[in-house]
Amino acid sequence: MSDNDVPQSIQRLREMRRRAREGGGPERVQRQHDGGKLTARERLDLLLDENSFHELGMFVTHRSTEFGLERQKYLGDGVVAGYGTINGRLVYVYSQDFTVLGGSLGRAHADKIVALLEMAMKNGAPVIGLNDSGGARIQEGVVSLGGYADIFLQNTLASGVIPQLSAILGPCAGGAVYSPAITDFVVMVKDTSHMFVTGPDVVKTVTHEDVSFDELGGAGVHSHKSGVAHFAAASEGEALAVLRTLLSYLPQNNMADPPTTACDDDPLRTDPALDTIVPENPNQPYDMRDVIRRVVDDGVFFEVHANFAQNIMVGFARLNGRSVGLVAQQPTVLAGVLDNDASIKGARFVRFCDCFNIPIITFEDVPGFMPGLAQEHGGIIRNGAKLLYAYCEATVPKITVITRKAYGGAYDVMSSKHIRGDINYAWPAAEIAVMGPEGAVNIVFRRELAEADDPVARKAELVADYREKFANPYVAASWGYVDDVIEPRDTRPRLISALEMLQNKRDVNPPKKHGNIPL
Ligand code: HXC
Repeated sequence: MSDNDVPQSIQRLREMRRRAREGGGPERVQRQHDGGKLTARERLDLLLDENSFHELGMFVTHRSTEFGLERQKYLGDGVVAGYGTINGRLVYVYSQDFTVLGGSLGRAHADKIVALLEMAMKNGAPVIGLNDSGGARIQEGVVSLGGYADIFLQNTLASGVIPQLSAILGPCAGGAVYSPAITDFVVMVKDTSHMFVTGPDVVKTVTHEDVSFDELGGAGVHSHKSGVAHFAAASEGEALAVLRTLLSYLPQNNMADPPTTACDDDPLRTDPALDTIVPENPNQPYDMRDVIRRVVDDGVFFEVHANFAQNIMVGFARLNGRSVGLVAQQPTVLAGVLDNDASIKGARFVRFCDCFNIPIITFEDVPGFMPGLAQEHGGIIRNGAKLLYAYCEATVPKITVITRKAYGGAYDVMSSKHIRGDINYAWPAAEIAVMGPEGAVNIVFRRELAEADDPVARKAELVADYREKFANPYVAASWGYVDDVIEPRDTRPRLISALEMLQNKRDVNPPKKHGNIPL
C-alpha cells in the first residue's frame, strides 16, 4: 500500500514522525557529523538492542514565546526519550539532540527527562542519559534553571534506587554538569566532549588563566585529574559499548540481585603462578591487576576509574558467574598507598556496590596512608574517613584477601573483620602490623640504636626480630582477625566458596534518616 492509500490521519502521523526524526534539519545534522559526532538517534541505535527502542513524548514542543522562539518549534523539543533493552534487559534512556536549539534545556525538554526518571524509578530499571547540550535554554530564562533543578532532584531521589549512567557526548556546561555528576557513572569521549562549570572565556576574565576547552574539561582531564569521568572512550561507539558492558554487571534496581551468567571457567581452578607473584623483597612492586586477572572468571576485570588515583583499583568482575565489585591496591603506583584521591575513589565505589547488592572483594597490599603536607592539608583525615565509613556501613558480602602489607589505620580501613568484613584471608607472606619493620624499629628502639656500638648491625637484628614476631599473618590469625591463611594458588576457589556461603547474607544498620558520611 502506498502512502497515498492510507487514511489522511495516518499520513499526518507519519509526516509528523518524519519531522520529529529529522531533528534540527539536514544542515545541522551535517554539522554534527562534520564535528565527529553522531546524532541523538544514531546514538540510540548503537546503544540499544536492535529495534527495541520505543519513543515517548515525540510530539512534545516548548510553549515559549520569547526571543523568536515561537517561530522555532521542533517536535520532541531537543531530547529523544523512551525505553528499550540492552542485552534483553529494560533500560530508560534520553538522548539530547544538539541539532535542535543546541540541545539546550527548556521547560518541556526538562519535563520529558523528569518524567522518564520517575517512570524508571517506579518500574525499577536503569536510566541512561546521553548528554549533548548547550545548557540552559537562554531564551527560556529562569524556567530552564527550574527545569535543571527538577532533574537534579529526581537524580538524587533515584540515587541508590536504580543505576543511573551518563555519557557526555558534546558540551555539558554550567550547572548542567550536576546531573551527570549526581549519577553513578560518567563516560566521556576524547576530543568531542567537555564538562566545566564555567567556560574558557569566563575563566580568563576571572582568574586570567588561558585554557583550551580540552585543558579545562576534556575527557583526559576528567578521567585522570578530577575524577569526574569514570571512563574516557576513544569514540562515541566505544563510549556506548562501555555503557552496555557496565550494565551487564549491575542489577536492575536496589531490590534486585545482579545478573548471573553461565561460567565456563572452573570454579575450583587453582593457579600456582600466584604463589610467586608477590616478590620476596617487600619493597619490590608487582602488578595487582595480574593477581585479579588470575583469580576472576576468564581473566576479565572491567576497571572503573582506570586513569584516576591509580594507586587503588576499582571495578567489576565475575566469580563463577556472579558479579562482584573489586577494590584493590596497586603496588606499582605509589606502592599502593592510600591518599586523598584513592580514598575518595574507593569510597564512592564501595557505596555504589552496597547500594546495588554487589558483593565487595578487597585485595589488600597497603603500606598505610600517604604522609606529607599536601595530603594533610588536602584533607586526608576527612577523605580517608570516607573510605572507612563506606566500608563500615556496607552490608553486602565483604571478602578480603591480604596479599602482602596491611599496615596501620589502613589495615582497619580496608574491609577488616573489625568493620564487618565477613571473610578475611591472608596470603602466607602477609605482614599485618602497626607499621613496617624499619619504621617500627626506628621509633621503639631509637635510644638503644643511638647508643649501640654498631647501630647498623643492631638495627638489622631488631628489624629481623620484629619481622619474625609481628610482620606475618599469624598474630592476626591467632586473634581471629583473619579467618584463614591461604595458599595464593587457592584464592579463586576460596573466594568462590566464600561468596556462595554468603549469598543469603542479611545485615542491617540501625534505623536512621541517613548517616553523616564525612563529605
Ligand atoms: C539556546 C543555544 C544554546 C543555549 C547553543 N544554542 N546553546 N540556544 N540556549 N544555551 C544554539 C545556538 O544558538 C545555535 O543555534 C545552536 O545551538 C548551535 O550552537 P553553536 O554555537 O552554533 O554551536 P557550537 O559552535 O558547536 O558551540 C557550542 C557551544 C555554544 C559551545 C555549546 O553554543 C555555547 O557556548 N552555547 C552557550 C553555552 C552556555 O553558556 N549555556 C548556558 C550555560 S549555564 P542555531 O540556530 O544557529 O543552530 C547553564 C546553567 C544551567 O546551563 C543551570 C543549572 C542550575
